[in-house]
Amino acid sequence: MSKMKNPYLTLAFFGILCILVFFPKPSYQLPVDPDLPPIPQPRLQKAYIALQAWKHAITSDPKNFTSNWCGPNVCNYTGVYCAPAPDDPGTITVAGVDLNHANIAGSLPEDLGLLTDLALFHINSNRFCGSIPGSFSKLSLLYELDVSNNQFSGEFPSVVLCLPSLKFLDIRYNEFQGKIPSQLFDLNLDALFLNNNKFESSIPKNLGNSPASVIVLANNNFGSCFPSSLIKMGGTLDEIILTNMGLTGCLPSDIGLMNQLTVFDVSSNNLVGYLPESIGNMKKLEQLNVAHNMFYGDIPQSICLLPRLENFTYSYNYFYGEPPACLKLQAKDDTENCIPYRPLQRSPQECKSFYAYPPSCSASGTTG
Ligand SMILES: *[C@@H]1O[C@H](CO)[C@@H](O)[C@H](O)[C@H]1NC(C)=O
Ligand SMILES: *[C@@H]1O[C@H](CO)[C@@H](O)[C@H](O)[C@H]1NC(C)=O
Ligand SMILES: *[C@@H]1O[C@H](CO)[C@@H](O)[C@H](O)[C@H]1NC(C)=O
Repeated sequence: MSKMKNPYLTLAFFGILCILVFFPKPSYQLPVDPDLPPIPQPRLQKAYIALQAWKHAITSDPKNFTSNWCGPNVCNYTGVYCAPAPDDPGTITVAGVDLNHANIAGSLPEDLGLLTDLALFHINSNRFCGSIPGSFSKLSLLYELDVSNNQFSGEFPSVVLCLPSLKFLDIRYNEFQGKIPSQLFDLNLDALFLNNNKFESSIPKNLGNSPASVIVLANNNFGSCFPSSLIKMGGTLDEIILTNMGLTGCLPSDIGLMNQLTVFDVSSNNLVGYLPESIGNMKKLEQLNVAHNMFYGDIPQSICLLPRLENFTYSYNYFYGEPPACLKLQAKDDTENCIPYRPLQRSPQECKSFYAYPPSCSASGTTG
């Protein structure tokens, strides 16, 4: 596994901070007269309808997360977080739902669109199926949406394209399929996780428009060339993981313009050609993984001299030359290449037949 800073924690923290900063405590107390009926709270009543509908759409809750979801006091429900409304600090609203790791089975009803004050919606590691309801388009304050590690299926949940406050979108480890809409990369996101779904067809050409600092597309079946528009994100992109996506062709020679990257992983694709010398310009690079492709030739020495490089994995390619600097790296893996005098390489016959007809940048699509 490549090293991943945990953007989830950082953003969750920021999200909570946001609630604390932007949802200030009410500055006055409402007078309470025990003889009067409780002051109606229409926003909490809507939340009650939404949460009861959701409870009915749950078919299994082995850890009893929702067993106290009874009665009108929704702020006491497990996993439901209330805060003063941003537009009306005297009114308490449901600002967050966090049912992570509850192992709940069920679906998301349309009524969840009544939770219009929601800033965080986290339901990772459950067994929810179906799709994200269209009514989520009403959640105009939603900032973090994490539905990862569930059983959602169907087309990309396009409703997320209508969420004006969305910064963090995590739909990884589901069964979404089909195309990724290009509008996704024009959203003002900080982090985007689409990995481990069944998306196919090509990666939209405007990928590089995204201002996100973390994008993970790995383990889908795009089967296209390296998305060279990524280079436009050179100034902002910190990590990019493109492992096992059926990528073909060569890496663009100006890839080194992505010089803010700390993690660059294109392992397990059908990429070919020389490793571009310009990778030696990614001065912040810590983790580099190009293993399980068909790269060949010499490894540029400038790469192994990168000041922060901790781990360079280039096993299972057809490299024949390795500068001494590479052997000095803390962690490296050069096995199953064609490097003479190094242990655990491919057989001379295999290397000879590969080098007799090395795949060209344009032809590789047909081999894999
Ligand atoms: C280096 O990275 C590879 C690929 O991500 C990983 O399998 C390996 O465990 C890492 N090595 C060290 C020492 O961290
Ligand atoms: C959940 O509640 C049921 C019924 O009250 C109980 O039998 C079960 O042990 C509870 N499970 C957990 C994990 O608390
Ligand atoms: C909500 O929970 C608090 C603390 O557990 C408890 O004191 C309070 O009575 C509960 N309110 C209602 C209406 O259930």
